[in-house]
Amino acid sequence: MNREEIEEIISRNHKKINSGEVADYIPELKNMDPTILGVTIASINRDSFTIGDCDQRFTIQSISKVIALIVALKDCGFDKVFSKVGMEASGDPFNSIIKLETLQPNKPFNPMINAGAIAITSLIKGQNGEASFHRIIQLLQTITGSRHIELNEAVYQSEKETGNRNRSLAYFMKSTGILEGDPEEALDLYFKICSINVTCSDLAKIGLWLSNGGQHPHSKEQIIEPEIAKIVLTIMMTSGMYNASGEFAVQVGFPAKSGVSGGIMAVVPGKMGIGVISPPIDKKGNSVIGVHVLEDISKQFQLHQF
Ligand code: DON
Repeated sequence: MNREEIEEIISRNHKKINSGEVADYIPELKNMDPTILGVTIASINRDSFTIGDCDQRFTIQSISKVIALIVALKDCGFDKVFSKVGMEASGDPFNSIIKLETLQPNKPFNPMINAGAIAITSLIKGQNGEASFHRIIQLLQTITGSRHIELNEAVYQSEKETGNRNRSLAYFMKSTGILEGDPEEALDLYFKICSINVTCSDLAKIGLWLSNGGQHPHSKEQIIEPEIAKIVLTIMMTSGMYNASGEFAVQVGFPAKSGVSGGIMAVVPGKMGIGVISPPIDKKGNSVIGVHVLEDISKQFQLHQF
């Protein structure tokens, strides 16, 4: 793999820029520049590439569900976490509510859909919401070494003002006993975690740790326990791309997690973390160009896991 090969993949896929739409259901996200495109590859063998708009900040959105799951597993352990959410792919859109009532037991399908992530967020420890949020920021700063990991206040306010679908998921889960504590507190933390600014290079760095069993391959620091890294990657593989996870697994063949701002964090186990940003998303909430770039990288360098 060399820089020119990745650049060629990016320019080939740049033509698909008009195939998706920038998310607008969170009004502030409409202000994102649809033309930004960046790819960072951070490899265990130290081959790293940053190509395109890798310094451009955007909100992490649903990729934060991976971080929330890591912290909830550290704080509460496997049994408690999976008493609140399942481990199955949902096949439904990320903000769907329908199965919360019709399924028994009525826990959300997995921690990667909004309902599951809100339930998980309520398990994150801290003396108050501010302290819990600070723990997430600190973890992300440590993993990425980036100081710009901080709250995007405008996106946070925009999510809080318009997040009525998430509010209904939280209150419904409160009524069924899945969500412990105050739904407004869980929602506030959830909205904040989704509104953290990152770059695609940060996403690649998170992926790099996960690709190496939770240990930084060069400093050898172990921040994420290997067992937690294993669980998180498996759930990313089955559910990280929402109701496109099956197709992504067949076509690309390694774990990934997308967000509605157009970021994707991907992990090639034992090899590398990949971060991509391109804001136009498809109907399922995944970056159109991001998915194509990952598919081409997987095929060209034979990174499919099976
Ligand atoms: O709660 C929401 O709807 C957003 N903060 C996050 C959704 C998201 O990123 C789904 N991703 N593809």
